[in-house]
Amino acid sequence: MTRRGFILSASSFALCGSTSIQKVLMSHDKSLSVFISDTHISPRADYNYTYKALERIVDEVLLMRPLPARVVVFGDISIAKGMRPDYKKAKPLFQRLVGAGIDVHYTMGNHDRRSSFLATFPEAEKRMLVKDRFLSVVDLGSIDLILLDSLCQADGPEGTPNTPAGTIDRAQWDWLNENAPKWKRPFVCGAHHAPHDLSIEIDGVKKDVLVTLKECDNYVGWVQGHNHRWDKRFNIKNSKSKSATFRWLVLPSTGYWGDIGYVVARSYPDRLDVSLELKDFYYDRPLEKNKRPKCWDDIVEDKKGDYCRFSFPGTI
Ligand SMILES: [Fe+2]
Repeated sequence: MTRRGFILSASSFALCGSTSIQKVLMSHDKSLSVFISDTHISPRADYNYTYKALERIVDEVLLMRPLPARVVVFGDISIAKGMRPDYKKAKPLFQRLVGAGIDVHYTMGNHDRRSSFLATFPEAEKRMLVKDRFLSVVDLGSIDLILLDSLCQADGPEGTPNTPAGTIDRAQWDWLNENAPKWKRPFVCGAHHAPHDLSIEIDGVKKDVLVTLKECDNYVGWVQGHNHRWDKRFNIKNSKSKSATFRWLVLPSTGYWGDIGYVVARSYPDRLDVSLELKDFYYDRPLEKNKRPKCWDDIVEDKKGDYCRFSFPGTI
């Protein structure tokens, strides 16, 4: 199988002119999801390239046939400080997805601010499973995504910068420890940050999210943003009774810096396959073709069409 044949490509479908066929083609595939992260949108003209990059991705998603049932946004929607104008600028792009019947799910990154985001995206509040945090469960077809909110938000007025580090609060910790061990279906866990960033101190003892997850029979892996690069990793659990590996995927940015693109995920009865739709690489901003270092193109060549698989428990 070729790399690009691994999973349905977002760009491999042509539009159809017939109304009846269009109706069929406008259907949504419940097993199909798109993961995006680190959109870093701003109304400032010098950051127009992040808006344009996200716009191009939205265009591509809307051309997918069948359409994905959902898009999951893994945080850092705002350029830097979670200002309301950033979210206002981004909103029409996400509305185009919603207008096509695609569910859009959000969590927060370290460059976001919950209250400012909710002022523009009030509909996102209904999915929150704990108070004031974007903890939600997303049905990906044959597998669930438990989406955590890892933003460690600074006190102070809008514009106060947050620490880059992630965390989870006690309510999310308690929810995860109560629910994840008895989860009935396979599940991935996701957040803006890496799992090892999300420890929490309870009664003077440091607790680790991964320790909980590795003990869950149906846990299959982690998905995150934050690093702005496609990166396939894995965690290992080694014990006397059982050894296991868990997939750990880092998503590209839609357009700020680093690997530029998005990820298409398709669930099957025994696995979740994800493929990279890589559009570009630049650091720290795009350059004209004649000014681009050759290594940027080499990075794109190296990663383009890459994919990975989350195998469900009991299938390996
Ligand atoms: Fe980011």
